[in-house]
Amino acid sequence: MNKSDLLFYDAYEAFYKMAGESEAFRLFCKEAFGEDFSQDGFSNVAQIERILQYVPEKEDVHILDIGCGNGKMLGFLQCKTNAYIHGFDYSAEAIKTAQALFTERAEFREGIIGEIEYPAEAFDVIVSMDTMYFAKDMTAFVAQVKRWLKPGGVFFAGYQEGDVVPKTENAHTTMFAEALRLNDMCYEVTDITEETYELLKTKREAALKYQKEFAKEGHDEWFDMLIGQTDCATEPVEQFKEKMGRYLYVVRK
Ligand SMILES: C[S@@+](CC[C@H](N)C(=O)[O-])C[C@H]1O[C@@H](n2cnc3c(N)ncnc32)[C@H](O)[C@@H]1O
Repeated sequence: MNKSDLLFYDAYEAFYKMAGESEAFRLFCKEAFGEDFSQDGFSNVAQIERILQYVPEKEDVHILDIGCGNGKMLGFLQCKTNAYIHGFDYSAEAIKTAQALFTERAEFREGIIGEIEYPAEAFDVIVSMDTMYFAKDMTAFVAQVKRWLKPGGVFFAGYQEGDVVPKTENAHTTMFAEALRLNDMCYEVTDITEETYELLKTKREAALKYQKEFAKEGHDEWFDMLIGQTDCATEPVEQFKEKMGRYLYVVRK
């Protein structure tokens, strides 16, 4: 498959190239999200810390991140738990950085959702933040994730509606929730839409704080992108909630 035909492929290559070289973006991420994970999504450190409670306290714990970008989020989880970290992403640029940054107990692969394969029952925890909607067949992909999880393992997913996929009524009506039901997977879900509204405000303030640094680096277009991504947080929260939803799913095998 020609990767450039996949949704946003070229944009993500450019994004991870910028993330690899921009000090302004590093400063922005730290300010906006509490940690620099080169986020393109909406995950701050508090959301990622919620994952820690699902990582078993034993030797040889394996965590997989689907849509891992340049691996910094996994690096954070490894620092806290000493787990083996595994990640895949279709971005060659992101995976090159991840492989250079994390060399111990780490495996990063270039791969496309729905095409890449892992052994059955390989992972204690599988994480996917803001990536599931790139699956062409979400039900089939959830079946694959279920196969990759060890019995008793946890799938932790951040899922947003209103940008890549349309907003549905609530956390139980999303395409992802439907795919979980079709795969007989039980889940708990937390609606973090209001928290996300506040996060987007913080994200906008952080971008404005580093506007000059982005400009000095010739990265104005990325500053503009961050402002564009946060326009929705300038509306009243009720209006925001009509258009957007964000949920954290904890799924057990
Ligand atoms: C919204 S970003 C989220 C990145 C990261 N998980 C985060 O929370 O910041 C989506 C990620 O999925 C990757 N991606 C998009 N479509 C993909 C596909 N079809 N297969 C594999 N990775 C994909 C992108 O390169 C990007 O890293």
